[in-house]
Amino acid sequence: MEILNKIQMHREEEGRLKWEGTFAEYLDILRERPEVAQTAHSRIYNMIKDAGVEEVDGQKRYKFFENQIFGLEDALERLVEEYFHSAARRLDVKKRILLLMGPVSGGKSTLVTMLKRGLEEYSRTDRGAVYAIKGCPMHEDPLHLIPHHMRSDFYDEFGIRIEGSLSPLNVMRLEKEYGGKIEDVMVERVVLSEDKRVGVGTFSPSDPKSQDIADLTGSIDFSTIAEYGSESDPRAYRFDGELNKANRGIMEFQEMLKCDEKFLWHLLSLTQEGNFKAGRFALISADEMIVAHTNEAEYKSFISNKKNEALHSRIIVMPIPYNLRVSEEERIYEKMIKESDIGDVHIAPHALKIAAIFTILTRLKDSQNGSVDALKKLKLYDGQNVEGFSSQDVEELKKEYADEGMEGIDPRYVINRISSAIIRKELTTVNALDVLRSIKDGLDQHASISKEDRERYLNFISVARKEYDEIAKKEVQKAFVYSYEESAKTLMDNYLDNVEAYCNKNKLRDPLTGEEMNPDEKLMRSIEEQIGISENAKKAFREEILIRISAYARKGKKFDYNSHERLREAIQKKLFADLKDVVKITTSTKTPDENQLKKVNEVIARLVDEHGYNTASANDLLKYVGSLLNR
Ligand SMILES: Nc1ncnc2c1ncn2[C@@H]1O[C@H](COP(=O)(O)OP(=O)(O)OP(=O)(O)O)[C@@H](O)[C@H]1O
Ligand SMILES: [Mg+2]
Repeated sequence: MEILNKIQMHREEEGRLKWEGTFAEYLDILRERPEVAQTAHSRIYNMIKDAGVEEVDGQKRYKFFENQIFGLEDALERLVEEYFHSAARRLDVKKRILLLMGPVSGGKSTLVTMLKRGLEEYSRTDRGAVYAIKGCPMHEDPLHLIPHHMRSDFYDEFGIRIEGSLSPLNVMRLEKEYGGKIEDVMVERVVLSEDKRVGVGTFSPSDPKSQDIADLTGSIDFSTIAEYGSESDPRAYRFDGELNKANRGIMEFQEMLKCDEKFLWHLLSLTQEGNFKAGRFALISADEMIVAHTNEAEYKSFISNKKNEALHSRIIVMPIPYNLRVSEEERIYEKMIKESDIGDVHIAPHALKIAAIFTILTRLKDSQNGSVDALKKLKLYDGQNVEGFSSQDVEELKKEYADEGMEGIDPRYVINRISSAIIRKELTTVNALDVLRSIKDGLDQHASISKEDRERYLNFISVARKEYDEIAKKEVQKAFVYSYEESAKTLMDNYLDNVEAYCNKNKLRDPLTGEEMNPDEKLMRSIEEQIGISENAKKAFREEILIRISAYARKGKKFDYNSHERLREAIQKKLFADLKDVVKITTSTKTPDENQLKKVNEVIARLVDEHGYNTASANDLLKYVGSLLNR
């Protein structure tokens, strides 16, 4: 039984991770592996770095976030470099609360959860190991035992800087349990775990009236006061607030700005110097990253309040905008669908892409450059080739707005609409049209959409729909040609031979009879007309193509079907024009004859085998394209 084996292996691993020894023995570990003594911030940064970092076009890609977070490369690079990296180097930023600010369902919680789960895993590795004073409810750093006046000597010997003071509880334990002998204090390895409340915490605000600061900093344990005689005996205190428990790791502060103002003040004064106050004790040093999240509206109202100015300076805000790339948005949907209960429904090819086109359009801001409409911008952002634009133009576009992606439709809405279409109609197959229809129906119910936005969004639905129409037509037409690429290549080679002969005023040789012939003007024109090249412009166009071919040849590159955007378009249109009648008749007759039926079945088989359809969605597609072509 596989699972029982795994359970046993897990138990063995837990055993292997156990370590316990005296402080003196702990120092031996430090001598060999000083990284064990790193701060929480540094551990988090190293966790991300150890997973692997790649650089693509000058941009950092972190493997740590791969397959979970899509399209947020810019935001992640900023977060890791500006916050995690500086904080890891013990700069002042680590004393500040990290506030992720972004629109709803933009991946903030996902990101924080990844950090938390990641840190739990990392603490099980050698490089991420965490050691703590044994029996301490805050898993305090053993190095706090070293008195302040000896710390520079310690630095000279170990090269490790110590921050923070021994907590009141351990000051007392050192005296009472170990008679002041630091070297005898027991140290143990701890594995961080949110479930066990070790080094990972979550705090979410409840009703402001009943919210108690004790949730953060712990509280007096009244049942033990009698035993210890005083409220200021640390043994009569429960260090079990979220800030205590998250020591050495990370604390997530959900909906921070929803917290009552007074409470927030209290919290921020607690965290500002890397320590906080609990009960009647001296300050407690906290070694933990505090990460909070909020949306833009809340954040704006927070900073517009003058009273919050001081707090504001103790927060580092990192924007987490929506993804703005269609292909990445598709991956988000795929991931969310896989995690949902509609995972086994067949989603026809392009359905998610079309939904993503709609969604991204709602997030983009109009460019100031008049020649870039919304759809062009969307394609450029997605890294597609758009005739007349370069990657430099994309950079320029991105610079136009610093705060793009903070508004628009969120991914959860799209997934909800897809599920709703499936459930309501008991569908087993969903195509792009079903999705668009459901999105449209849902706009009325979407709470936060203004009347103008609604108009804009309806317009985007028709833009997305038009994109789908083009894709659908191409897909079917391609499936009608036995081998589309091959046919396109043959037609293009044929065209190029003729163009070459025409420009060089040569003759061509008939491959069968060997006879000399003039270039086939009719063939060339039938292709050129597809992209509107007039009789007067044909010579220039043909010469331009020859120049392109020789430029390719000089660089040793092969000129092929994809080397000239407009020529490719012309060839494709020509192929489709030749096919159009066949496709039109075959897809729309109510009573197909034997030949047509055979053709239809062939096409459906090709759509299923090569393009990811199932029989039902392929049939839908054919019917739809038939109706488009007959318009
Ligand atoms: N850029 C993204 N990459 C991957 N998944 C994403 C992305 N944006 C959103 N998601 C997905 O959308 C869903 C909602 O995201 P999440 O709950 O993390 O958002 P949030 O910003 O915390 O939202 P809220 O403000 O509502 O709390 C999740 O399933 C998440 O995986
Ligand atoms: Mg959230």
